[in-house]
Amino acid sequence: MKDGKLGFGIIGCGVIAPTHRKAIEACAEAEVVAVCDIDEEKGKAFAEESGGAQFYRDYAEILAADDVDVACICTPSGLHADCVIAAAKAGKHAFCEKPLDIDRGRMTAMIAACREAGVKLGCVFQSRTSPDMIKARKTIMAGELGPMVLGDALLKNYRSQAYYNSAGWRGTWALDGGGALMNQGVHGIDLLLWLMNDDVESVFARCDHLVRDIEVEDTCVAALKFKGGAFGTIIGTTSCNPGEARRCELHGKHGTICVNGTKLSRWAVTSEDDGRATEVEPPEEIDGSGGTVGDNKAVTAEGHVFLIDDMVKAIKEDRDPYIIGESARKAVDLILAIYESSRTGQDVPVTSS
Ligand SMILES: NC(=O)c1ccc[n+]([C@@H]2O[C@H](COP(=O)([O-])OP(=O)(O)OC[C@H]3O[C@@H](n4cnc5c(N)ncnc54)[C@H](O)[C@@H]3O)[C@@H](O)[C@H]2O)c1
Repeated sequence: MKDGKLGFGIIGCGVIAPTHRKAIEACAEAEVVAVCDIDEEKGKAFAEESGGAQFYRDYAEILAADDVDVACICTPSGLHADCVIAAAKAGKHAFCEKPLDIDRGRMTAMIAACREAGVKLGCVFQSRTSPDMIKARKTIMAGELGPMVLGDALLKNYRSQAYYNSAGWRGTWALDGGGALMNQGVHGIDLLLWLMNDDVESVFARCDHLVRDIEVEDTCVAALKFKGGAFGTIIGTTSCNPGEARRCELHGKHGTICVNGTKLSRWAVTSEDDGRATEVEPPEEIDGSGGTVGDNKAVTAEGHVFLIDDMVKAIKEDRDPYIIGESARKAVDLILAIYESSRTGQDVPVTSS
């Protein structure tokens, strides 16, 4: 830490790295001091654009640097745990991109490594930072919708074959860990679980690659049974052309909340036990099918700004970050159960081990 500013090192200088840099630059108590990539040309160019930050080729080296307090993990998903564990062992805090990792054992190990080393592990799921989503979660947590009946996520994205061909790790089991769900759908699946304020007990699913030439799924349908008794569905794809805004539809005995993109498109409740729900507020403007629905480079920085600012405060106040590893792993645990169900044709319980 220099002049009250935490030094950030960004590991992985690809598509999402500039969003991390933008968020760090927006925080008065943080600065980018170093960057790292195995691709030297790309990493050096990114270092240059980051105000002449120090470039490292090896993540062990950036993690050994005295001026790095926090490591942003922006590497392919299957490398997240390795980087976070190395950061914890070096005594650095970690701010990790979604998905937390793609393997249950590795997620357990990375969470434990940070807890044991006494460093913070902050996780990225920027959808949880939208004021509308926070309002929806509070309403459901307060029981205003009554006992929950259904929680559905419609995650109809578009990614071209050129997208999958743009980096060797995309669409592979080893490093992407899955496709339409593990990479793109994981945002909406995390949001569904967080809004429902419930975990899924078991799942029955079908997944396949229907259009793209990739190892992993480009399309999936899953039927969920929540621990609290509700049912739910997930429809996830990267092969809807041109893609639809994300929808989450949450229905309780006494009302409904629907999310379209990052906005609430429906919020209706009743206070009568057997009454019909009416609108609480007229729906706000719906944000259409923009954002990352059809383009992986279209991530806006607001969510990362919120999360980096919170990460800095969590370190300074010695408290947990807004999204902790134990919470971020839930979407991945569910996706892994979905994949297993599709492989075996069985109803599969969702577990973290
Ligand atoms: N929050 C979001 O909305 C969002 C959006 C895009 C990507 N992501 C996540 O960010 C991560 C990166 O995705 P991306 O699209 O930026 O990928 P990318 O392929 O564009 O960038 C990854 C970078 O990591 C580098 N790299 C690979 N192995 C490395 C290593 N051992 N050490 C250092 N650098 C290494 C690669 O050379 C590449 O430059 C993924 O986990 C992805 O899921 C999140």
